Amino acid sequence: MGRAFVYVILGGGVAAGYAALEFSKRGIHHGELCIISEESVAPYERPALSKGYLLPEAPARLPSFHTCIGAGEKRLTLKWYKEHGIELILGTKVKSADVNRKTLITSNGETISYKILIVATGARALKLEEFGVRGSDAENVCYLRNLNDANRLVDVMKTFTGGNAVVIGGGYIGMECAAALVTNRIKVTMVFPEAHCMARLFTPKIADFYEDYYESKGVNFIKGTVLTSFENDSEGKVTAVILRDGTRVPTDMVVVGIGIRANTSLFENQLTLEKGGIKVNTRMQTSNTSIYAVGDVASFPVKLFSSDIRRLEHVDSARKTARHAVSAIMNPNSTGDFDYLPFFYSRVFTLSWQFYGDNVGDVVHYGDFSSGRFGAYWVNKGRMIGAFLEGGTKEEYEAIAKAVKLKMTVKDMGEFERQGIEFALKG
Ligand code: FDA
Ligand code: NAD
Repeated sequence: MGRAFVYVILGGGVAAGYAALEFSKRGIHHGELCIISEESVAPYERPALSKGYLLPEAPARLPSFHTCIGAGEKRLTLKWYKEHGIELILGTKVKSADVNRKTLITSNGETISYKILIVATGARALKLEEFGVRGSDAENVCYLRNLNDANRLVDVMKTFTGGNAVVIGGGYIGMECAAALVTNRIKVTMVFPEAHCMARLFTPKIADFYEDYYESKGVNFIKGTVLTSFENDSEGKVTAVILRDGTRVPTDMVVVGIGIRANTSLFENQLTLEKGGIKVNTRMQTSNTSIYAVGDVASFPVKLFSSDIRRLEHVDSARKTARHAVSAIMNPNSTGDFDYLPFFYSRVFTLSWQFYGDNVGDVVHYGDFSSGRFGAYWVNKGRMIGAFLEGGTKEEYEAIAKAVKLKMTVKDMGEFERQGIEFALKG
């Protein structure tokens, strides 16, 4: 049993949806492209799962957030794929890949062959078991990576309205889920090992603002520690988490967001890996010229950072790496090097921030922290290389993005700090 396609996208997440749209824009024939996805729905905008999807009132539900609605483009429904002759092989996991034979074998035992493969397998949530904690498969412990996880989280939240939750991890999932839990009238305790939340990006000053805000919403922080075990009732439900120092935190439910691991395992020993992902060049091409990698699974050279290889875990890079790969496949001669400005963002409660560039070097803060309109700039070797802005306008966000892209020169740090957002706006 087998089928052959010219182009195969392995994985049906954000990057797959944007790649499909790009293929259709550039002109492919019916039957040339297929997407194989373990998920049972067409590609969707994953960020919705920790935001609109978790709202108690009028929550977002598919088909409203299929790709590529998040970038203001077409919403690709099942009908769209059908009309465009793009085969969607859903609910199907690829079990093995042979890059020499150019074949994939699915969980149904089908062999799918390709001329060109785009690997868009994304990442999986790390499990507590990988850190030596047992029992995270209990029915009231939730992770959040895909639609099934989100449905489970919604069900568990509904069961415990008015109750308590422990959130493990102070990163993106932890912060966004804690906000969603509060909005669902569940009292939250956050537990994480670092000294402050969002340690990979926030400065202590930005984190202070966020922690104060969350505390004003009733969130309790237990920092600088991890959980070591769960306490369960006779039915196996978690009733408390036990921390390293023995502290017992009673709870009705637990949400875990302790990072991800890129889904590279099909290609280990077949493609070059770096920084936890599949290494690609500026055309998103892997060490095998017939295979491209995009999104969370790809480690690519960031021209702006002297072509340092980075693996980014954000939706904007999934969208843009996907488009670039398709452009490089379909128009090899007119596609230049991928020149990407890293862009991250988040929205919680009524707060929202954007970040561009890299958060290394000296940092200065600006703006008014008491009114929630503030930011930070990172400066390295006299150039601005990173910018964060909370509560900005469209014009201000565009200005900081441009300033980082240009790596604007900073002559006088004091003056730079004093000017704040004006520095970027003046250009
Ligand atoms: P993605 O994970 O989207 O898709 C991978 C697909 O491959 C999945 O469909 C998976 O089932 C499939 N797959 C994997 N292995 C397979 C196999 N062997 N066979 C078949 N199928 C396989 N970013 C941001 O910038 N702003 C934000 O607000 C958010 N918010 C956010 C919320 C939540 C809940 C999550 C989990 C993530 C975010 N992100 C985000 C991150 C962003 O969603 C992420 O960077 C992109 O989804 C990455 O897109 P990919 O297509 O690379 O992977
Ligand atoms: P993360 O890397 O943002 O944060 C992981 C957190 O878990 C950190 O605070 C870390 O210190 C903590 N941690 C690690 N080990 C721990 C342990 N043993 N016990 C307790 N805490 C531990 O990862 P995440 O929050 O799980 O997010 C998963 C993925 O989803 C990331 O790729 C992220 O980029 C993506 N995401 C992005 C957004 C966004 O961009 N707005 C929103 C949601 C999710």
